[in-house]
Amino acid sequence: MLFIGVDLGTSAVKLLLMDENGKIHNIVSKEYPLYFPHPGWSEQYPKDWYEQSMAGIKELIKDCDKSQIQGISFGGQMHGLVVLDDKDEVIRPAILWNDGRTTKETDYLNQVIGKEKLSQYTANIAFAGFTAPKLLWMKTNEPELFARIKKIMLPKDYLAYCLSGVHCTDYSDASGTLFLDVKNRCWSKEMMEICEITEEMLPKLFESYEVVGTIRQEIAAELGVPKTVKIIAGAGDNAAAAVGTGTVGDGRCNISLGTSGTIFISSRNFGVDKNNALHSFDHADGHYHLMGCMLSAASCNKWWMDEILRTKDYGKEQENITKLGENQVFYLPYLMGERSPHNDPLARAMLIGMSMDTTREDMTQAVLEGVAFGLRDSLEVARSLGIVIESTKICGGGAKSSLWKKIIANVMNLKVEVIESEEGPGYGGAILAAVGCGAFSSVEEAADKLVKVIDTVEPQQDLVEKYEERYQKFRQVYPTVKTLYQNL
Ligand code: XUL
Repeated sequence: MLFIGVDLGTSAVKLLLMDENGKIHNIVSKEYPLYFPHPGWSEQYPKDWYEQSMAGIKELIKDCDKSQIQGISFGGQMHGLVVLDDKDEVIRPAILWNDGRTTKETDYLNQVIGKEKLSQYTANIAFAGFTAPKLLWMKTNEPELFARIKKIMLPKDYLAYCLSGVHCTDYSDASGTLFLDVKNRCWSKEMMEICEITEEMLPKLFESYEVVGTIRQEIAAELGVPKTVKIIAGAGDNAAAAVGTGTVGDGRCNISLGTSGTIFISSRNFGVDKNNALHSFDHADGHYHLMGCMLSAASCNKWWMDEILRTKDYGKEQENITKLGENQVFYLPYLMGERSPHNDPLARAMLIGMSMDTTREDMTQAVLEGVAFGLRDSLEVARSLGIVIESTKICGGGAKSSLWKKIIANVMNLKVEVIESEEGPGYGGAILAAVGCGAFSSVEEAADKLVKVIDTVEPQQDLVEKYEERYQKFRQVYPTVKTLYQNL
């Protein structure tokens, strides 16, 4: 039996072929462009996602016994607004999770409707990247386009629709729309009224491991796979990554170092942070989770390497970094504004503390540390809620760097468990497909059987102490410069 996991990311779609024993047979990645039509805006064409996913699947399965393919599922970039008209044609480019155009709409929701009500209806408050404020933005700024909307969906749901013909989503991804009543797993009538949409415009809700339909016959023929291949709802990329790293059930933690950076804490019970600094979302295992999300994580290092140092040899730049915990340079990682915990779309990145003896290595180190400090900000919120976390899994492109893992272990004072496959959302998507096809009785059973820890990075007491002192300095920088961002 073979299962396909599709990780619909921001820079590329990554596809993974897995069997029922969790063995990965092939991985393929296909890039597509990301557009920034205005500073702080971020868009992509759903057509690019579909075309690259189809090209990727063909390449992924070209050498396997295609008759063995049973199911396809997804982990997708969250919150993106995809809108379709009455012919199911895409109306405008998707507005992505890291788009910051909705300051006014977010303020309206949080201040006029009020955070308390939003939290009561959805378990969350409005953040610029969430889907509902984007819809309000369209209503004001593109009224003709808004009037044509017949269906609203999230990025991976567009792929599921193309493959199955079903307008569907899952609870974990729907949680990030601000239209879902997370606690009760249903669409919020109040939020639909506030945003003037009807329930018919929203997709049908499924658990992440449920079958939404069968592959369209013409697509089965194009791919050369059985007509019986099942399409399984899948999850938001963070919930899928959590499944792919075994972060299921109660009190487990996963850090994702992708374009975004997230800290994800699984929970069997529903819970909300009273300031809503962490998101309270449904999980792909049928339960719940809390999550902090930084908008720029591995993308900070990518920007620093590609655009500033103009190198592709990321490893070489990290080779001579040895003075951990002693860096005088600090980096604020807010290249696209920040979500958790500051909720500030106007925030921007900065380097501070350079002197004549600052080296290239110090600055690279500051970038890696700034991201770790940003994640620690969210961890502190979780700790303030009484949640005790001693270890975490890690996944995403940034997790390939041993240095970064060491920095994270010491900045956060957590054991960092390295798993066999860092392909979080793709592996999680394939696991969800396997559960949907009946290879396992639950997501927890599948994840516990398939995910293997192969190494642990332990925090070192001396470094933890040094980094504690650095972190206390780091956390003073943002509040000091915050008001400046309004005028930049
Ligand atoms: C989570 C979030 C990001 C995207 C990245 O809330 O916005 O992690 O899902 O793909």
